[in-house]
Amino acid sequence: MNSLDKLASSVKFQKKNDRMYVKSKDETLSIIGSGRSAFVFRLQSTNQVIKVFYPPFEHLATKEAEIYKELKGISYYPNLYASGPNYIVIDFIEGHTLFECLTIGIPITKKHVEEIDHALYLAKESGLNPSDIHLHNLLISNNGEVKIIDVARFRQQKDCTQWKDLKKAFYKYYFLTYFPKKIPEFILNLISAIYKKKLFPKFLLR
Ligand SMILES: Nc1ncnc2c1ncn2[C@@H]1O[C@H](COP(=O)(O)OP(=O)(O)OP(=O)(O)O)[C@@H](O)[C@H]1O
Ligand SMILES: [Mg+2]
Repeated sequence: MNSLDKLASSVKFQKKNDRMYVKSKDETLSIIGSGRSAFVFRLQSTNQVIKVFYPPFEHLATKEAEIYKELKGISYYPNLYASGPNYIVIDFIEGHTLFECLTIGIPITKKHVEEIDHALYLAKESGLNPSDIHLHNLLISNNGEVKIIDVARFRQQKDCTQWKDLKKAFYKYYFLTYFPKKIPEFILNLISAIYKKKLFPKFLLR
């Protein structure tokens, strides 16, 4: 067992009220984020993070690692450094997710949106099918660079319209001069819940 395997297996998860929590972990790991399949920790004294998948999503680690290998060299995606049965190690992106940008009020520009579009086009050129493109998986680094993370579902077959809808929302609403550039978190979560339930009126994104 190498040292990264050991670090990953130091992370113990616990489910409570349908939510996953970290019960214990190596003290050098600090949580920087979590999602529907993993917790992400900063690796001490490095510019890297370790994403540890919790049950039953451990198998996504090898999937995501393979996809990062295919995206190698495209600057919009983090580099992959290592992977194991339930983890991957990638660049730490110092910055904010688009979700955080919207709640804090950090402006998102047309150039950012065009760059995300280009980054997804490059992934398609590599034979992938970008999916699960939501506000928590798109980041703007402190240097203003666009970065896309969480690529585990980039090989899925079905058509994902999330980015098309998100892009439409940016142009139709967000970029309007008087549209608020800071949006309360609960409103974003509410819109996202309505969207996920496929209850969002289609004409609003036409
Ligand atoms: N390399 C990174 N640099 C900075 N922050 C990161 C990085 N990777 C993940 N994060 C943070 O951790 C969160 C969860 O990571 P990630 O999206 O990879 O997990 P997930 O469980 O696959 O998410 P999802 O719910 O979208 O499936 C991200 O939304 C982001 O806030
Ligand atoms: Mg995610």
